[in-house]
Amino acid sequence: MEGHLTVGRVAELAGVTVRTLHHYDAIGLLPPSMRTAAGHRAYSADDVERLREVLAYRRLGFGLGEIANLVHDPATDAVAHLRRLRNLLRAQRDRAAAMVTAIDRELEARAMGIRTTPEEQLRVFGAQLYDTIGSAYPATRRTEPRIAARIWAALGDARTVLNVGAGTGSYEPPDRAVTAVEPSAVMRAQRPAGAAPCVAARAENLPFEDQSFDVAMAVSTVHHWPDPIAGLQEMRRVARRVVVFTYDADNTGWRERFWLTRDYLPEFADLLVGWPSMADLTRAIGGRAEPVLVPWDCTDGFFEAYWRRPEAYLEEHVRRAVSVWTRVGPQAEQRAVSALREDLSSGRWATRNRDLVALDAAELGLRLLTA
Ligand SMILES: C[S@@+](CC[C@H](N)C(=O)[O-])C[C@H]1O[C@@H](n2cnc3c(N)ncnc32)[C@H](O)[C@@H]1O
Repeated sequence: MEGHLTVGRVAELAGVTVRTLHHYDAIGLLPPSMRTAAGHRAYSADDVERLREVLAYRRLGFGLGEIANLVHDPATDAVAHLRRLRNLLRAQRDRAAAMVTAIDRELEARAMGIRTTPEEQLRVFGAQLYDTIGSAYPATRRTEPRIAARIWAALGDARTVLNVGAGTGSYEPPDRAVTAVEPSAVMRAQRPAGAAPCVAARAENLPFEDQSFDVAMAVSTVHHWPDPIAGLQEMRRVARRVVVFTYDADNTGWRERFWLTRDYLPEFADLLVGWPSMADLTRAIGGRAEPVLVPWDCTDGFFEAYWRRPEAYLEEHVRRAVSVWTRVGPQAEQRAVSALREDLSSGRWATRNRDLVALDAAELGLRLLTA
C-alpha cells in the first residue's frame, strides 16, 4: 500500500465520487494498479497522473470513449498531455472571453432598446476571439514602417510569401506575391480591396504542399494559436524560410520593466503561463531571435505601442483593438484603467516613469525570429 492512495482519499482530493472511480475502473479507463489484501482499490502516483488527465479532458467536454483513446495512446506521454490540455484550455478561455464580449454587446444593445438579430445571437456560440473583437481592430492597428522594414529585410529575396494569421493585411510586403491565411471571417472581411488573396485556415493545418513558398511570415499572431509549436512547424514545412514577429514571454524581466503590466495589469502574466519559451519557438523553426525595439510613436497600436503615451490606454477604442484587454476580463481592465487615470492626473505616473521621456525606443520583449 505504501505510496498508494485509497479510493476514498483519491475521490476526496479530486472532488469526484467513489462511484465515479469505480465506474472508470469497470470500463477499463482507469483501473488502479493495486488492490489491498481486503480487495480495496489503491492508486499509485502514475494512476493519479492518469486520473488528472481523465478529469481534465472530461472538464473540456470530451466523452469517456474519446478520453480512453487519448489517455491510452502510447505515443503521448504525460508532458505531451499537459501541453495539449493547456492549449485546449487556453482556446476554451479565449472562446469564453469572446462570448462575454458578445454578451456585453447584446446587453448594451438591449439597454438601448435594440433587439439583436437571430444570426447575431447564434454567432456567439461559434465565436472565435477575433470574430468578436476583430471589428475594433482597424481603428488603431496598421503597419508600423520601422518594424515593417525589419520584417521585409528578413524576407530577403523571397518572391512568394505566405502570411499566416494575416488579419487585415498589415505588414504584407507590396512588392512580392503574397498569399494570406486567416481563420476569422470578421478579419478576412476587413482586408482592404486589392489585398492579397486570403485562405480561411489555421496555422496548425496549412492547406499547402511542402515547400510551396519562399518564405512564411507571421506577425503578432503566434500567441493566439492553440498550438504554436505545431503552427511554426507547419510554416517550416510549407516554406523554405520562416520570419516571425512575436514576443519573448519567458523573460519576466521585461514584463517587470513595462510599467503597464508591472504597476497596473499584473494579470497579463497569467496569459503567458506555460507559453513556449523563446528556445522552444526558435527550435521549432530551427532559427534565431533578435530584439525589436518599439519606437515611442509606434503607429501599430499593439499592447506595448503606447509605452511613452500612457493616456492612450485610457481610450476604449485603443484597448478594444488589443486582445489582452478582453482576455484579462472586464474587472481587471476597469481596475487597471481607473488606477492609471488617477496616477496620470496626480502626477504619480510621471514621477515613477520620468526616465522614459528621454527614450526614443524601448526594449519590451518583442522579437524577430528568422530561419
Ligand atoms: C493580433 S492579430 C494580427 C494580425 C496581423 N498579422 C497583424 O499584424 O495585424 C492576430 C490574428 O491571428 C489570427 N489567428 C488566431 N488563431 C489563429 C490560428 N490558429 N492560425 C492562424 N491565425 C490565427 C486571428 O484571427 C487574428 O487575425
